[in-house]
Amino acid sequence: MKPTPKPGVLDILPYVGGKAHAPGAQKVFKLSSNESALGASPKAVEAYRAVASGLDVYPEGSASVLREAIAKNYGLNADRIVCGNGSDELLSMLAHVYLHPGDEVIFSQHAFLVYRIATLANSATPVVVPEPDMRVDVDAMLRAVTPKTRMIYLANPNNPTGTYLSSEEVKRLHAGLRKNILLVIDAAYAEYVRRNDYDTGIELVSQFDNVVMTRTFSKIYGLAGLRVGWAFCPAHIADALNRVRGPFNVSIPAQRAAAAALEDKVHLEAAIEHNERWRGWLLDNIRALGLRVDESVANFVLIHFPKKTGHAAKDADAFLTKHGVIMRTVAAYDLPDCLRLTIGSEEANRAAVAALREFVQGWK
Ligand SMILES: Cc1ncc(COP(=O)(O)O)c(C=O)c1O
Repeated sequence: MKPTPKPGVLDILPYVGGKAHAPGAQKVFKLSSNESALGASPKAVEAYRAVASGLDVYPEGSASVLREAIAKNYGLNADRIVCGNGSDELLSMLAHVYLHPGDEVIFSQHAFLVYRIATLANSATPVVVPEPDMRVDVDAMLRAVTPKTRMIYLANPNNPTGTYLSSEEVKRLHAGLRKNILLVIDAAYAEYVRRNDYDTGIELVSQFDNVVMTRTFSKIYGLAGLRVGWAFCPAHIADALNRVRGPFNVSIPAQRAAAAALEDKVHLEAAIEHNERWRGWLLDNIRALGLRVDESVANFVLIHFPKKTGHAAKDADAFLTKHGVIMRTVAAYDLPDCLRLTIGSEEANRAAVAALREFVQGWK
């Protein structure tokens, strides 16, 4: 006799994050976790340091100062914002609160891995919808809905494909769902998107009782190490999450640094501009090597490699790591022939292309 986990838990493959080490390489460029190329705003770092002498005190549990700052920044009602220890926590909390054993949860073939983990951890059933051309297929998602469907996770834009659905497509997806199916729009990379037909999901959350949008300070705000995310929810969902949430789930340094980060518009604009410029440069230069790279609206690109031994993604990963360039293997996302490259500093981007060039030249 021993304690046993709930059904589903032992079906979870533990999440493996992007590699951080390249043994033997002189200089290492970690481009494996979609972290910000420009790092955190100096204002956020200052706010973090300013609370160093008060670490003996518990945080204000509802993160009210941060929620007010987010509400002001985006024109939202602070009562409908819930902050989390990273948006991961909120994605899991939603599953914890809304999934019953045996419920079905729909997400797409190359979706963020946390959706599967959160589903299985709550004894629910993942329903994986094929993603032709690396794009979420709204019609296929709607076809996958059954009487057992309880939740849909949609990363918009998606990681690791870098593609997105237009606001019209997201609306169409929502319009096809029963009112008791929760649509979770994970907009972790929203700030990077510069497309007129894109919408973060705020409008849908404002209008309907079954849509939640999650956001993060880990990506464009460069605060991944602090773990801060937030969800904009219908009032009844915020209420349910607040009952279950750890009472002090966002630390004081995290709350303060995130609030300060929101005020630094200059840093935000610089991060957007840097991303636009170097994403274009990377796409052009990697394509010039004869490799397929998909269009992306986020801070990473997906590179496709031939299957041939010596040319494959796995070989590229070993070669690049030896040369100090760490990309993300994405076999766990059902993309065994691809590597995901985060847009880094100018030096890192140039090093990545130089190493890829050397790898491809080795085929001749
Ligand atoms: C699509 C997506 N959602 C959510 C997250 C989680 O971000 P965090 O927990 O750092 O807020 C990530 C991070 O990689 C992501 O790619």
